[in-house]
Amino acid sequence: MQKRPSCPMLAAMEIAEAGLRYRMRRALRQIGEQHRQLREIHDGLGAAIASGERREARDAYVRYRHAIGAHFELEDQVFFPALHGLHPEEQESLDALGRDHGVLIAALQTLAPLLEESALERFGAAFDAFRRDISQHEQREEALVSRITDEA
Ligand SMILES: [Fe+2]
Ligand SMILES: [Fe+2]
Repeated sequence: MQKRPSCPMLAAMEIAEAGLRYRMRRALRQIGEQHRQLREIHDGLGAAIASGERREARDAYVRYRHAIGAHFELEDQVFFPALHGLHPEEQESLDALGRDHGVLIAALQTLAPLLEESALERFGAAFDAFRRDISQHEQREEALVSRITDEA
């Protein structure tokens, strides 16, 4: 069994830190699963655009928007605060990633009217550009997580 520090303040801090680590690990697992789901929806959306299936493209777009909203919420509400609690020196990078979320959601919303155009090409091109932006965001996130885990 692990020895608890004799100072109650230190013991409380250790418990809080263990709680943050637990939340971070849990969130990391959920985030991995969400990334997988997002890629699936994205593939479905790509197929719907390629075959000109407007209704399916609309459905996939709505699903994608909800899924990405839930994903950003998990990161903003649980994952980033837990990371910040363990690594306050990363505040700037975490704030920047949180700001990206707002920009990306706004960009995704501007795509909705393109789904109503007679051809889906412009929507397809704009969605591909969005995917490139989001994958850069994910790379920055992953780089931060691996930097932090490497240091641990
Ligand atoms: Fe993110
Ligand atoms: Fe993410």
